[in-house]
Amino acid sequence: MSRSERKTDHIRLALETGQLRKTGLDDITFVHQSIPESSLNSINLKTEIGELVLSSPIFINAMTGGGGEKTLEINRNLAQVAKETDIGIAVGSQMSALRNQEERRTFEVVRKEYPNGTIFANLGSEADVGQAKAAVEMVQADALQIHLNVVQELAMPEGDRDFRGMLLRIDKIVNEVNVPIIVKETGFGMGQETIEKLFSLGVSAIDVGGFGGTNFAAIENQRRLTKLSFFEGWGIPTAVSIAEARHMSPTHPIIASGGIQTSLDIAKGIALGANAVALAGYILKILTDSGPEKLVEEINKMKQELTMIMTALGTNTVKELHDTPLIISGETWHWLTQRGID
Ligand code: FNR
Repeated sequence: MSRSERKTDHIRLALETGQLRKTGLDDITFVHQSIPESSLNSINLKTEIGELVLSSPIFINAMTGGGGEKTLEINRNLAQVAKETDIGIAVGSQMSALRNQEERRTFEVVRKEYPNGTIFANLGSEADVGQAKAAVEMVQADALQIHLNVVQELAMPEGDRDFRGMLLRIDKIVNEVNVPIIVKETGFGMGQETIEKLFSLGVSAIDVGGFGGTNFAAIENQRRLTKLSFFEGWGIPTAVSIAEARHMSPTHPIIASGGIQTSLDIAKGIALGANAVALAGYILKILTDSGPEKLVEEINKMKQELTMIMTALGTNTVKELHDTPLIISGETWHWLTQRGID
């Protein structure tokens, strides 16, 4: 199977498999504030990921790389939706387009449709400096995402089997590519050990890509004859991963993702310490089931509801939402307690 056919397969299987809804965010409860010093009109959703300034903390995470006409159409739609709703967007892995010129247009369409948008390029950790620079140039990216997906590769029949040298390659990219580097997981989450290594290299931000939403072990298992079912429950839930990241560094930019579907999920992600929140599978589902107009409506609704939640909590900015009191229960509490995070 070609890389491009595999990408189309992933889209179909991601939609069929759906989202797990086990992010741990249900273990987080806001403490109601009866006397908030806020008004709906004064809420400011602006946020920063290092030097990048975003008018809203919500962005569309990396999905479709390669795959011909269908993915071209999805990318065009996603770029138009991002423009209409004034949010950032990451393209899917560009490795296929670096190997096959014909696939470049699948990605270039995103910049074409959204000339002034915040756009993230995307490659896997196998990429070298030259490929990283080319991927950034292809979409005139404002930042580069490097994705980590060891479990997916292991579960993928034709996947990589040798994961040595990842940190070394990321280090070179951090030093030689002149846009911010965001390292992201793809649904298995990151713990303190991983996050510490990445921040020590000087990556600009991490995207926790937590467990509990799109599950690539389940997706790949559908493409295998002998299932690696133990990988389907493998990973660090999104809520835990955000808290681990914020505990590891009080200052670095952190992006919450993995199973985010609602304004309440977004608010909880920020309250746990995230600067921005990214959605992938849920966005793809709305686009595919209901079309781009409905997706615009849904994203605008999420923004409006986030404003209401922030008003109720008396937090006028994303920074103030970081400090709102939370109650953490269930498995998330157990996890964080055992990891020495309070
Ligand atoms: C992805 N994801 C992904 N990530 C990445 O860095 N490069 C990629 O090319 C892709 N491709 C891709 C295709 C499809 C169809 C899906 C659904 C997802 C992973 C994505 O960015 C995200 O990390 C995970 O999907 C977890 O977030 P959600 O989907 O639970 O919001």
